[in-house]
Amino acid sequence: METTQPLSLLGGLSAAQFMRRHWQKKPLLVRQAVPAMAAPITRSALFELAARDDVESRLIRHAAKGWTLRHGPLPRRALPATTQPGWTLLVQGVDTHDDNVHALLQQFRFVPDARLDDLMISYASDGGGVGAHFDSYDVFLLQASGRRRWSIGRQRDLTLQKNVPLKILEHFVPEQSFVLEAGDMLYLPPRYAHDGVAVGGDCMTCSIGLRAPAADALAADLLVRIAEAQADELGEPSGRAAPPRYRDPAQPAVETPAAMPAALQAFAREAVLAGLRDPDAIDRALGESMTEPKSNVWFENGEAGDVTRGVALDRRSRMLYDTRHLYINGESFRAAGRDATLMRRLADQRGLAARELVRASDDALALLEDWCEAGWLHAAA
Ligand code: SIN
Ligand code: CO
Repeated sequence: METTQPLSLLGGLSAAQFMRRHWQKKPLLVRQAVPAMAAPITRSALFELAARDDVESRLIRHAAKGWTLRHGPLPRRALPATTQPGWTLLVQGVDTHDDNVHALLQQFRFVPDARLDDLMISYASDGGGVGAHFDSYDVFLLQASGRRRWSIGRQRDLTLQKNVPLKILEHFVPEQSFVLEAGDMLYLPPRYAHDGVAVGGDCMTCSIGLRAPAADALAADLLVRIAEAQADELGEPSGRAAPPRYRDPAQPAVETPAAMPAALQAFAREAVLAGLRDPDAIDRALGESMTEPKSNVWFENGEAGDVTRGVALDRRSRMLYDTRHLYINGESFRAAGRDATLMRRLADQRGLAARELVRASDDALALLEDWCEAGWLHAAA
């Protein structure tokens, strides 16, 4: 993606300038980031998504008796009348369900795909919102229709209110406040406190959500993947030899039988470290982890099409690469040479034209056919 061109999406900053000056550092308010913005999805289509059991949705209401939260699926009758004030519906991952919304998310690919999470859309009636809070991730809040007042602040006191079903700050101190109209956008770095309240009804906001793995959860996930990959390798006839087993020919007789032998501790440490010494194994586990589809995403098996006519990744597919591998939807493939260049282009462009496929090897075409049958990509009609 071109990174030095000024973008109206970023208020005239280039992506490179935005990343240097604002990303993870300070907020940016952009008026008319998307000129002549039209909501990428209709209210009724959003309500229909909220009713599905494969879509994550939440209904949040704020009334005199406090906040209430209800998780989806939310049939239309579960939603209050649009004229009733003080409620909001949040629908997660709309980019995986709708082409227009997916296209909107593509404008944010100056951030690595590995950091982009999803596009959530909220619909709020007059006065609706989720309360003053902070998120652990960066977020771009793009007003899709209607108006919303955002109050924001560099909150030091992150104490949350007790006995409420949502994370709401106990002592929010707003420092700035602005009303966003359709097409306006606010970028907030992680942990920046914010409170968005719909001004008038029919307020739709797109949250372009980022993700950043926490060290402990990432390590736990990668360790499981590395162990599984090693077990798979052992099971293969061509796999490596059986691993060494603990031996202790020099073990003396003991008077304290419950004491752990120090040699066994040393053996265990070495066994764990040996499994991690292969940097390739960690890279592969990371690529698989970062492209793993969310639990509510599944692919319908596709038709075997003629991939030489051109291919496009399905909007649900996650694809990344590193110097030695390709990753798609939780699987890794070794790739080198011309095929690797082609497949990297597929990942960056999310598609390949027929002319780019002319020199693809039979192996590459066979892989694309497999992915086509899995529903991960589609052949041009
Ligand atoms: C909303 O759209 O109401 C909530 C988005 C957010 O605060 O992150
Ligand atoms: Co937020």
